[in-house]
Amino acid sequence: MPETVLYVCTTCRRPDDDPDGPRAGARLLEALRARSEGAPDLRIEAVECLSVCKRPCTVAVASADRWTYVYGDMDPAASAETILAGLAAYAETPDGLVPWRARPEAFRKGVIARIPPFPESRPRPAGTLEAAE
Ligand code: FES
Repeated sequence: MPETVLYVCTTCRRPDDDPDGPRAGARLLEALRARSEGAPDLRIEAVECLSVCKRPCTVAVASADRWTYVYGDMDPAASAETILAGLAAYAETPDGLVPWRARPEAFRKGVIARIPPFPESRPRPAGTLEAAE
């Protein structure tokens, strides 16, 4: 099964963040790592800003040959289990398209974007530099 990668924005802030503690995004990352230890075919990566700063916390889900999704409004204290359940459903699909009703409610409400899989390379027209090499 292709690996699923979960990108977690660690610079997301929420109004209730302790100014002396880790940001909400960093807390969400910690919760996800604690609950996903040993999960097969899942990699969790910390990133700094997914450009969805007004809907913290934000995450993105990607996998080869599958659609990529960006989600916001994740709660650092309560969303880890939901995100992992959504990832499990995503991983069971060949293309990343989970039926709407099978998605966790937080994914249905929090979806910000979906991005098609990266296209396969097309042959270059004859006569281009790449074709001549
Ligand atoms: S700080 Fe998290 S998306 Fe920008």
